[in-house]
Amino acid sequence: MSGSHALLTLSGDTIRGYRLSQLVGSGSYGAVYSASSGSDVIAIKLSCQEKDLAIEASILQQLYYSNAVPRFHFMNKYGAYHTIGMELLSYDMESIRQKIDWMAFERPTLIKFTYQALTCLEAVHALKIVHRDVKLSNFGLTQPTTPGNRVAVRLFDFGLSHTYADADGNLLDDDRNLDFTKMKYAAYDPSIGCDPMPKDDICQLSYAVMYAAGFDFAQQLKLPAKDLSNWKGEMIRDPVNTVPPQVQFMLPFYELVSDLNDIIPINYSHLKQSVQDCLKDVDAASALILTVEDGQPQLT
Ligand SMILES: Nc1ncnc2c1ncn2[C@@H]1O[C@H](COP(=O)(O)OP(=O)(O)O)[C@@H](O)[C@H]1O
Ligand SMILES: [Mg+2]
Repeated sequence: MSGSHALLTLSGDTIRGYRLSQLVGSGSYGAVYSASSGSDVIAIKLSCQEKDLAIEASILQQLYYSNAVPRFHFMNKYGAYHTIGMELLSYDMESIRQKIDWMAFERPTLIKFTYQALTCLEAVHALKIVHRDVKLSNFGLTQPTTPGNRVAVRLFDFGLSHTYADADGNLLDDDRNLDFTKMKYAAYDPSIGCDPMPKDDICQLSYAVMYAAGFDFAQQLKLPAKDLSNWKGEMIRDPVNTVPPQVQFMLPFYELVSDLNDIIPINYSHLKQSVQDCLKDVDAASALILTVEDGQPQLT
C-alpha cells in the first residue's frame, strides 16, 4: 500500500483519544478525518509532509482568535504521520459547488462569500502571512448555528503558506523553494516567477470567485501555458473586456484587484466596499445560510 493510500484507510484508529470516524477530505499529501471523543467532534489532518504540517500548525495557532481559520486543537505524531487536530468545519466551498444546480452559486451568495473571504485574507495578511494556495476547495464553512443555520467562511490548508516578512518588515525567504510557475491557478505575477505576495492571494480569490460563479475555470487552466498567462495578464491590463460574463456584475471588485501591487498596502475596506457596490440590494456583510435537504446543500 502506498503511503498516501494508507492515509485513506485509518477510520477506527485513535489519535490523542479521538477515534477517526469518516474521511472528509484528501489532497495530494494528506487526508482529513472527522474524529470524536465522547460528544466532542473535531477534524484531524494527517500528512507525511512534516515541515508543511508544522508550518500549518504554527499559523493556525497564531490565528486562533482571528475567526478566519478553523480553531487549532493540537499537533501530534502518529506512526509515520504528522497530525493536526482542529475545529471540524461543515462543507468546503468546492464540494458545495459540485452539488448545487448548474454548479454555480447565485449572485447574493457570491457577494457574501467574497466579502467574508476578504475578511479571512485580511486577518492572515495582518500577520505577514501569505497563503499562496487560495482556491475554492481551501475555503470551508463553520457548522451551522441555530437559529437560522448561519455559517461563516474559514480559510484553511496552510501547507504552502509562508511568513513573508518579520515584524520590522524585512522580507523572509522560504527555504522550501516552491515553484509557483508550475501552479496552474497561480496569480499572474507568481506565474511568471515573482514571489507570491498578499495581493496574489487576492488575485487567486478573484479566480476562485469566477469559478464559483459558473465560469469554466478548469477548462481555462487547460490552455497552453502562454495563452493562460496572457489571459491572466489581460485580466490585470483590461478587466472590463476580460472578466468572464458570469462575474461582469462584479466588475468594481475585479477592477480594484487589477490595480493591486506590492508597494501600496492593500486597502481591504475599499475592496469590501467594491464587493458591496456590485449588488446594491444585498448586504454583503450579512450572514450566509446553509441548509441541507436530502443530502443536497444550499448556501444563500
Ligand atoms: N477543519 C476541517 N474540517 C472539515 N473538513 C476539512 C477541514 N480541513 C480540511 N478539510 C477537508 O479536507 C480537504 C483537504 O484538506 P486540506 O487542508 O485542503 O489538505 P490538502 O493539503 O491535502 O489539500 C479540504 O478540501 C476539505 O474538504
Ligand atoms: Mg487543500
